[in-house]
Amino acid sequence: MAPVVYEGAAVVPAHQLVKPVSRDIFPDGLKTTGQHPPLYDQLKPFSEFPQEITGPTVWKAEEYKNNPEKWTHRLTDDEVAELSDAADAFLAGQIPLTGISKGNFPLPKLSAFLAELYKDLVDGKGFILFKGFPVKEWGNHKSAVAYMGLGTYLGYFVSQNSRGHVLGHVKDLGEDAAQIDKVRIYRTNARQYFHADDCDIVGLLCIAKALDGGESDIVSSHSVYNALAKERPDVLETLIQPIWYFDRKGETSVGEEEYIKTSVIYLENGGKGRVYTKWDPYYVRSLTRFSDAGIIPPLSAAQTEALEVLEATCNRLALHMVLDIGDIQFLSNSQVLHARTAYTDYPPPAPRRHLMRLWLATPEHEGGWKLPFWDSDEKKRGGIQVNDTPPVAPLDGE
Ligand SMILES: [Fe+2]
Repeated sequence: MAPVVYEGAAVVPAHQLVKPVSRDIFPDGLKTTGQHPPLYDQLKPFSEFPQEITGPTVWKAEEYKNNPEKWTHRLTDDEVAELSDAADAFLAGQIPLTGISKGNFPLPKLSAFLAELYKDLVDGKGFILFKGFPVKEWGNHKSAVAYMGLGTYLGYFVSQNSRGHVLGHVKDLGEDAAQIDKVRIYRTNARQYFHADDCDIVGLLCIAKALDGGESDIVSSHSVYNALAKERPDVLETLIQPIWYFDRKGETSVGEEEYIKTSVIYLENGGKGRVYTKWDPYYVRSLTRFSDAGIIPPLSAAQTEALEVLEATCNRLALHMVLDIGDIQFLSNSQVLHARTAYTDYPPPAPRRHLMRLWLATPEHEGGWKLPFWDSDEKKRGGIQVNDTPPVAPLDGE
């Protein structure tokens, strides 16, 4: 069947494919492609979506709740020693952290485990929790090197914001979460509803915990899809229509629109034809500055209901997880949604809750999902890139 062409279809011309970039700006020679609209002519209508999804990406919290050994890997002494040696050698080489890659961060033993993990993240259940990363012993600099080095085996790090942060810091920086059109929630202590980050795989390394809250919930978006297909196919259809405007919160390059009109749930092109979810309710709720001015339509009653039903279904099916200091959670955004509870930090001088975040990209030619976006085969697909902002890897929130 021919693809359905939706109104306003715009195919990004091939000349926008990434040109060679300056290594003076991008030390590993790769630039994050950033956010953009989908290829509208590749979006599929509801009628082409599966009635039920099967396979390892569909899981239930009950399978894992009392079996943490199924999704936890405690680093062995040998693995920690290998990471430590690679980090020390990298630091001695005085290469900028933004230039780290598999080539300059050899892990001859751990790499076999990471290759298996890559498959499970991309094609399987889509999550893991590492334990025993010695952040206190190593301190923030060496921990950041070892963490980013480990990450290079799971994808290409991409920029996470307009500042070019490729090492993100999830920390309450005192910004006002009520200002949702300007503030990124990861820089506050507010609750985060179920969402996917703007990348293929997200990593969170716990450096410091909150006094209370800040706990993690994850859910198989394929289990959520199956529940909706049975209980509320109307909601699913609303989520599949490309009628959703997502805010870019001002993180735009010259000439780009302030929002992206797209779907919440997509069908993978070719390949395995899997269902892909890209969602964040904060980003669709924050656009009243444009809808009040009549520039875009406000959320319809059906959309408002769809986002409420989606959140409730995620909550019902979620697996709860607590990150302790030295834990690393890796999640695949393609088939897993995540949330976190609001939190309260310890009073000073105790450190505030602090997670180091990695956003990683998995291009098609390395086994990544075939997505209806022009950059699906780019190494640093996704992320947030504003103009030629160089990547930076600060060691703390800024
Ligand atoms: Fe997130």
